Amino acid sequence: MKGNGSACGKVILVGEHFVVWGGTAIALPLRKTHTRVTLRGNPASRTRIAMSAALDPFPSARGGGAGGAGGGGISPARTPDVRLRKAIGLALPVLAGQGRFELQVETRSDIPQGAGLGSSAAFSVAFCRALLDMQGRDCDDDLVAQTALSMEEAFHRFPSGIDSTTIAFETPCYVKTGSEFVVKTAPAQQGPRAGFLDVLPGAVLLLADSGERRSSRAVVQRVARFARQPKGDRILAKFTGVAESIALQTASALRKGDWEYVGLMMNENHLLLNALGVSTERLETLRNAALRHGALGAKLTGAGLGGFLLAAARPDAAARLRRALLASGATTVLVEDPGN
Ligand code: PMV
Repeated sequence: MKGNGSACGKVILVGEHFVVWGGTAIALPLRKTHTRVTLRGNPASRTRIAMSAALDPFPSARGGGAGGAGGGGISPARTPDVRLRKAIGLALPVLAGQGRFELQVETRSDIPQGAGLGSSAAFSVAFCRALLDMQGRDCDDDLVAQTALSMEEAFHRFPSGIDSTTIAFETPCYVKTGSEFVVKTAPAQQGPRAGFLDVLPGAVLLLADSGERRSSRAVVQRVARFARQPKGDRILAKFTGVAESIALQTASALRKGDWEYVGLMMNENHLLLNALGVSTERLETLRNAALRHGALGAKLTGAGLGGFLLAAARPDAAARLRRALLASGATTVLVEDPGN
């Protein structure tokens, strides 16, 4: 039996981290980047998993950041690491019932790992699709989104669902985890809600790779430690309240195609993330270059402490901005169209 599945990457426009603590995040699919999973399975008395994965397509990581190089993604090793095995183990009973397989998992991806573009969620969604395909079953996006979210729990401890939802539906999405601005322990206790967003065109997105890699899980845990410090919970709750207003205003500006306002909101959001301690010198250098060379707004995206800087720009400013980002140390610059 053989099955194929594919999934795109994602970029968080606003609300990362705060969505883990009761706020709202907005993300867009990155339709030019993909993870592809091929499964070869034979019925067996007990499940066995063998893994082969292409190496990180952006191997120029300079290290640094929490968790070290490549720590946030999926191990490229032949034997799946503990989290990967756990994630697959969570998906199998949901999508294959009582079935036991000797499973060969082959992964090819052009989504860099540990860089904030959703590599683990893309793997999870692509894996679910491949598993359904292997059994001759149609893809059910709701089921895939839910299963991928539980797989994400194996990779990150408190996934908000913004990555897996945006990637499973391949459409601009929001996720809101709390009903009030109270810092609690886990999004699961707060009842996440998600929906699709209309995005009118008017800008392009540039994603500049800082070359730094880190583990999302480690960065989220670092913010959790901050929340446990004296007054930390109150500061985080205050920031989450401000971030909530930013997310709501961003959603409304996206609907109108008011990218100038979206840019302002991205800038405000970055200041909060920087105050939370999840930016880096390289990200700040890239951000300053983006703002000096015509970006409407620029911010770190994803967990931070490395990964990519996200800039929004008018289409006619994109080429100049791209050159400026490369001249300021970006190892790669991806350009994406944010529309639906
Ligand atoms: O860096 P990424 O792609 O893993 O994004 C993480 C986004 C967070 O808000 C930091 C965590 C989450 O689960 O929402």
